[in-house]
Amino acid sequence: MDRVRVVHTPLEIYSQLAHERSAGRTVGLVPTMGALHAGHLSLVKQAKKDCELAVATIFVNPTQFGPNEDFSKYPRTLERDLEQLDNAGCDYVFVPSSEQIYAPGHSTFIEPPSVASRWEGEIRPGHFRGVATVVLKLFMMVPAQVAFFGRKDYQQVAVIRAMVEDLNLPIRIEVCDTIRESDGLAMSSRNRYLSSTERARALGLWRALQGAQELVQQGERDVGKIELAMQQVLLAAPVDSIDYARVVDAQTMEPLQQIEEVAVAIIAARFGSTRLIDNLTLYRP
Ligand code: PAF
Repeated sequence: MDRVRVVHTPLEIYSQLAHERSAGRTVGLVPTMGALHAGHLSLVKQAKKDCELAVATIFVNPTQFGPNEDFSKYPRTLERDLEQLDNAGCDYVFVPSSEQIYAPGHSTFIEPPSVASRWEGEIRPGHFRGVATVVLKLFMMVPAQVAFFGRKDYQQVAVIRAMVEDLNLPIRIEVCDTIRESDGLAMSSRNRYLSSTERARALGLWRALQGAQELVQQGERDVGKIELAMQQVLLAAPVDSIDYARVVDAQTMEPLQQIEEVAVAIIAARFGSTRLIDNLTLYRP
């Protein structure tokens, strides 16, 4: 590893990048929680295309995990992550400690925007409060002009976009396509929890989304029928449980009854103890 510069303190990353920016270089930020896969690396490559410098952050953010979620077992693969970032041409990696982000006595949080209230926000109370808080902190510590996020976390992107707009943050959000395995499974750090049979069953997610898209392409506009079809595909996979399999307005993420505007199918479901999410745009007028 000879290229990527690993920085551990907020002061150091801020001053290094302030210096780069004063020399006229553009900075693209890719926030991650590590356990990197091809999806993250595609964000770094996009950052390198659009900006002179790509900066990744690796921080498993405790405040976005619920008490019964996988914070302690979330995969931590720092050495491998740094190697992959180096190979992808990343220029800086910011790897703060927990205390640097949440100093003892930390008690300030972001109230997430209204698009956070349903779906993940309902099932994972506090999740988007934690995401919005840490992302805003990263934006303050890493003075980037552009931040890159993956579309797989569709609602997360909507929350971050709304926060940037509502708080007049001087950063542009770029959303990059979901990277999929050759059989369609969306890349996720959590895929590594799946046994081989669970992984085979998890393909039901992609089949359900594709089936919904085909129905819309054939002219179906009744959301009730599309959602029923998605559920049937998921149950046949078989899925262990479905948190939601819905068709929503692409902007507001409010549920739809008829498809008229841009519509997105969103699914969260469990295979064994692993909870996966995925989404697909079904319709653009
Ligand atoms: O998508 C993620 O990996 C995380 O939610 C993020 C944006 C890095 C915040 O911790």
